[in-house]
Amino acid sequence: MEISFSSVFIALAWLLALAIICEVMNHVVCPKRNVPPGPRPWPIIGNLNLVGSLPHESLHNLSQKYGDLMLLKFGSKPVLIASSPEMAKEILKTHDAIFSSRPALTAGKKNFLRHHLTEFILSIISRMVMSGTYHRDESIENLQDHHKAKGKEDSVPKDMVDVLLQLVDDPNLEVKITTDNLMGLILDLLTGGTDTSATTVEWAFQELVRNPNMIEKANEELDRTIGKGRWVEEEDLSQLPFIEAIIKETFRLHPLTPLIPPHYSIEECNVVGYDIPKGTMVFVNIWSLGRNPNYWDRPEEFIPERFLENDINIKGKNFTMLPFCSGRRRCPGYSFGINLVGTTLANLLHGFNWRLTGDIKPEEISMKEIYGLTTHPEKPISKIMEPRLPLHLY
Ligand code: HEM
Ligand SMILES: *[C@@H]1O[C@H](CO)[C@@H](O)[C@H](O)[C@H]1NC(C)=O
Ligand SMILES: *[C@@H]1O[C@H](CO)[C@@H](O)[C@H](O)[C@H]1NC(C)=O
Repeated sequence: MEISFSSVFIALAWLLALAIICEVMNHVVCPKRNVPPGPRPWPIIGNLNLVGSLPHESLHNLSQKYGDLMLLKFGSKPVLIASSPEMAKEILKTHDAIFSSRPALTAGKKNFLRHHLTEFILSIISRMVMSGTYHRDESIENLQDHHKAKGKEDSVPKDMVDVLLQLVDDPNLEVKITTDNLMGLILDLLTGGTDTSATTVEWAFQELVRNPNMIEKANEELDRTIGKGRWVEEEDLSQLPFIEAIIKETFRLHPLTPLIPPHYSIEECNVVGYDIPKGTMVFVNIWSLGRNPNYWDRPEEFIPERFLENDINIKGKNFTMLPFCSGRRRCPGYSFGINLVGTTLANLLHGFNWRLTGDIKPEEISMKEIYGLTTHPEKPISKIMEPRLPLHLY
């Protein structure tokens, strides 16, 4: 069969006419939305070609070009990226109610817990989480009674178990927490908590061994405040401003979740003049916030002293750094996390002299990251530890 030139031409003319009609109808039926700027998406992959192995850094670089509120496509899904303190505040405070949703999780995985593990877990928890007020033989029901009784006195949660027990049977949660899956959840949180804290301490040391004078300064503070006769306790932390400053500076430069876990918009809304459709995935780039040159002097440098001069809130009130995020989805384990990082770091500094092995020079230490569930140093350095305290304490 022969296809003539004119029939191809007519077909093309029809397609063109159709396209114009569609475009016009589109404007009439739904007026054009004002969407945030962003790179042009490819079919199927969207903008995923622009997101490399360090997504927070790629997105940070893209925000320099497209602005601190930009819209990308991950595949066919629209994704909003907030990269400045102002935009973080828009998402996490101004429009908090709309952007606080998360996709439903599978609760099934919480049911892995076998009964004989319970006692073991309770013993760990009672040592680590529950500030010493519970006993090993308490069952979940006892715990709930205990907490209900306590709840009458004051409704401010004191520890993670308080937080969790308040969540049990809370009708507002998307993922219902029941007494059955509570133990599994506590276990998950606990391992999550220790891993997150360990990673932060790892980053702190990665920075500190490059700056031996900071270790000296910390040791001087520890010797003066604690003395060589004992280890550091949680209660001591408020007396150790330089250690506290080291922790804050570590959280600023190396937030555990450089991109917060995604939030979703449950309604269409308008953010600083842009129309954000319902169901848009939102990431706040925490990594970008801590490196914003409008708020941080010499942002790339590790300078704990900046926190001695200026007592900056790291629990979600100051949007220039949000290691625990902010708003209704803020990390519920923040005070546990801060205390765990604090006591671990303080005791590792107090108890040991730290030296680099072999002939690595401090300035050669890499600050490159590996991106994962949490972000770790790409090349952890090996260090030599020597006891600093009387040997009977070890
Ligand atoms: C250094 C320690 C920690 C850091 C930096 C950290 C940071 C974060 C961040 C950034 C989020 C996301 C918040 C959001 O999506 O807006 C989060 C969520 C969460 N964190 Fe942590 N966290 C730490 C330790 C802990 C600990 C110790 C626990 C439990 C004992 C914990 C339990 C949780 C839970 C349950 C969520 C989910 C909250 C929700 O979806 O509403 N975290 N954390
Ligand atoms: C981001 O930009 C900086 C500076 O231009 C560059 O060194 C870095 O490799 C870029 N990172 C990514 C992941 O694109
Ligand atoms: C928030 O942090 C910035 C540093 O990034 C500081 O200059 C500012 O004073 C802080 N704001 C408040 C209210 O503490």
